[in-house]
Amino acid sequence: MNKIDICAIWSKNEIVFIIDQTKLPSKLEILKLSNFQQTAAAIKEMKLRGAGTIGVAAGFAMAQAFSEFNNPKQILDAKKIIENTRPTAQNLFYATNLVYQKSVNSETPKETAWKTAHQILERDIKNSKIMGKIGAKLIKDGDSILTHCNAGKLAIAGLGSALAPIYTAHNQGRKIFVYVDETRPRLQGSKITAWELSQAGIPHSIIVDNAAGFFMQKGKIDIIFVGADRIAKNGDLANKIGTYEKAVLAKENNIPFYVVAPTSTIDIDCQSGNDIIIEERSQDEVMKINGKYVANKGSKAFNPAFDITPAKYITGIITEKGIIQNRKYKTKNEKLKSKGQKRED
Ligand code: MRU
Repeated sequence: MNKIDICAIWSKNEIVFIIDQTKLPSKLEILKLSNFQQTAAAIKEMKLRGAGTIGVAAGFAMAQAFSEFNNPKQILDAKKIIENTRPTAQNLFYATNLVYQKSVNSETPKETAWKTAHQILERDIKNSKIMGKIGAKLIKDGDSILTHCNAGKLAIAGLGSALAPIYTAHNQGRKIFVYVDETRPRLQGSKITAWELSQAGIPHSIIVDNAAGFFMQKGKIDIIFVGADRIAKNGDLANKIGTYEKAVLAKENNIPFYVVAPTSTIDIDCQSGNDIIIEERSQDEVMKINGKYVANKGSKAFNPAFDITPAKYITGIITEKGIIQNRKYKTKNEKLKSKGQKRED
């Protein structure tokens, strides 16, 4: 496959185009989604995924509904169908509400809906570049970075969220290395993040999810960047299952743990992580790989798609408006100083 400039979703003449992420990394297939039902189904089936991309798709699906229907009841029914696809991603609800509210009483509802949906995509691109610049300042030459799931260009347009500082530091000429959690059960890390990093020529290795603690303990990881699907008012957040344990291990090993997310991922109506709805997905995702059973057929599986990381484990949340600082961590020199030893530099 030739190297490409990755763009997860776009729209022309009221048709939505997406990269079918379920086919990556072996096949780069573009899907054409001609109506709101097809776009909603693509979100549900995870042909597109990642909080930002889900939000953009939801905005486009709302615009398609405004093109398809004149009757406000039908538009509201479509909105409900779109919102029922993936309950955890805040950007989905941000987008459906924004497109609906701006368009429903407009003199030109259809035109307003499409304009608003395109603005959501453009804002993501702009914000991701800003977050990349802010986050890249935290990366030193020679750093090894851990990331979980896929929070790259396929998850949020532009440079992604967690991968934005990584792309930016690499483009600025810093030598970096990325540890990529494979991210069971859907393997967004080993399939999608690894593919993105290969496209960009960024050195990386895939590790099994259970190995992250081992590498942290061995001092191999300097900094961690992950994305977020919904951030509560108190700073707790939902992200891909496994994020919580990485954050706890990061605190134990005194490694800075940063979350990168635009402010559109913050849900101010949600007081804490306890109020975030966690999407439960099919047990087949755990039991089977590529449609074939790998687990014992007679057993059952639990498959929560996300977990909650309490704010106390997060060093900071990098948004397009700056960093919301949280957990303190000691630099090597601060640690030496507190032990009464000499600085390293
Ligand atoms: O289930 P997914 O693949 O949509 O989950 C994606 C993640 O959890 C990402 O880390 C998150 O969306 C942040 S990237 C914008």
